[in-house]
Amino acid sequence: MGFLWGVATSAFQLEGSPYADWTSWDDVLCASPDITNHYYCYKDDLKLLNELGVNAYRFSVEWSRIQPRENRWDISALQHYSDIVSILIDNGITPMVTIHHFTHPLWFIKKYPWHEDSSIEKFMLFVERVVKTLSKVRYWITFNEPYVLLLGGYIEGCMPPGIRDVKTSVKALQNILICHSMAYDLIHSHVKDAEVSIAHNMASFAPWHRYNPFDRILSKIAKRFYNHSIIDAFMTGVLKVKFPFYEEFIKELPIKGKLDFFGLNYYTRLHLRFNPFRRMFIEIRHRDLDGFGLTDLGWEIHPKGLEKVIKTASRLNVPIIITENGIATKNSHKKIVYMKRHIDVVEQCIKKGYDIRGYFYWSLIDNYEWLQGLDARFGLYKVDFKTFKRQPTTAAKYYSYLISSRRMG
Ligand code: BGC
Repeated sequence: MGFLWGVATSAFQLEGSPYADWTSWDDVLCASPDITNHYYCYKDDLKLLNELGVNAYRFSVEWSRIQPRENRWDISALQHYSDIVSILIDNGITPMVTIHHFTHPLWFIKKYPWHEDSSIEKFMLFVERVVKTLSKVRYWITFNEPYVLLLGGYIEGCMPPGIRDVKTSVKALQNILICHSMAYDLIHSHVKDAEVSIAHNMASFAPWHRYNPFDRILSKIAKRFYNHSIIDAFMTGVLKVKFPFYEEFIKELPIKGKLDFFGLNYYTRLHLRFNPFRRMFIEIRHRDLDGFGLTDLGWEIHPKGLEKVIKTASRLNVPIIITENGIATKNSHKKIVYMKRHIDVVEQCIKKGYDIRGYFYWSLIDNYEWLQGLDARFGLYKVDFKTFKRQPTTAAKYYSYLISSRRMG
C-alpha cells in the first residue's frame, strides 16, 4: 500500500442524528438537525473524493443511528455505512473507519456512561455489529481522541455527559482503553490484515512566559499528560495519569502493543499560563509567535509543532498516519498555506526517517464544529447550510495538485 492521501470526516458532524447525546446538548442543532444533509446526499459527496484525487477516506459511523434505542438496531443505518464502504472500494479509495467519534446514543450516556463498567459490554455489542457489517475495511480507528472526550466530557463538563470530576474521568478513560483493547482483538478476529489504532490528539505545548517557573512546570505536566501518557500506556501496559496538584493515577491495562499504526491528529500549539483562579490553575492561551497568524478559532498556526509530536509518537515504533490536520478559516489562501506548510513538515520528517504512511486533511466539507457550531469552516468544499450546496474552495484544487505532484516516501 502506497502513501495514503486522504480527507477525514465524522458522521455526526456531517449527518447529525435525532438520537445522539449531542443533539439535546446544543441548540444550534435544533435549527439545523441534518447539518450538511450528508446522510441523504452522501453519494454526491463521495464523488468529491474522486474529484480531489485522494486515495483514502476516513469517516465514522454514528452509533445513535445504528442503535437508536437500547433494544433496537436500525439495519438501514448499518446498510448506509456499508454502502459508503462499497462505493469507496469500487472507486479505488481505501476506507478508514472510526467507530467512536465523540457522540453516543442518548440512552447509553444516560444509563451506562463511560465511568460505569457496564459501558464496556454495551459498547462492545455495537462494535461487533459494525465490524461484522464492515468487514471489508482494513483500517480502523476505535476511538477518536479519547483525551478530548475526557477533558470535555468529564473534567471541563462542556461536552456530554457534562461531568466535572477528575477521579470519574480517569475511570472513564480506563474503560475506554479496555474497550479499545477488546475492539482491537475483535477486529483482528474478523478482518484479515486489519490495521487498528486510536486517533490521538496531540498538541505542541509552551509556557506562556518562558521565564516563569510555574508556567514552565505546568506546560511540562500538560505535555506529559496530554501527549505522552497514552503512548507510554501502549508501550508498557500501565496508564499513569498526573493532573496538576493531584496524585498520580496508575493502572495496569491490557493495551500493551495493541496498535498496528498510530493515528495522530495535530492542529496547533497551546501556551499555558499559571492562573490561581482557573481549574487546575491552568489557563490556555493562543498567540501568534511564528507570524503565520491565527485561525478563525483563534488557534496558533505552528507547523513546526507537528515534527515535535511526530518525534514523540515515533517512540511507539509503529507506522504513523496523520489522521487529522486542518484549519478553520474562510480564507482559502490561508487554508492553502496551512496545508502546504504542514505537508512540508510531513515530507521532511519522512526524509529524516520517520515512518509516516498517510496524511488526512480535516475536512472534506464544512461541518458542525462541536462547541463552535457552524461558523468554523474547515472544509475543502464550502457548504451553504441553508441550501446544502457544496462549492469547491481553491484549497481543494491545491490539495489535488499537492497529491499529484508530491512523492512521499
Ligand atoms: C476532532 C474533530 C474536530 C477537529 C477540529 C478534532 O479534534 O476530531 O471532530 O472537528 O478537531 O476541531
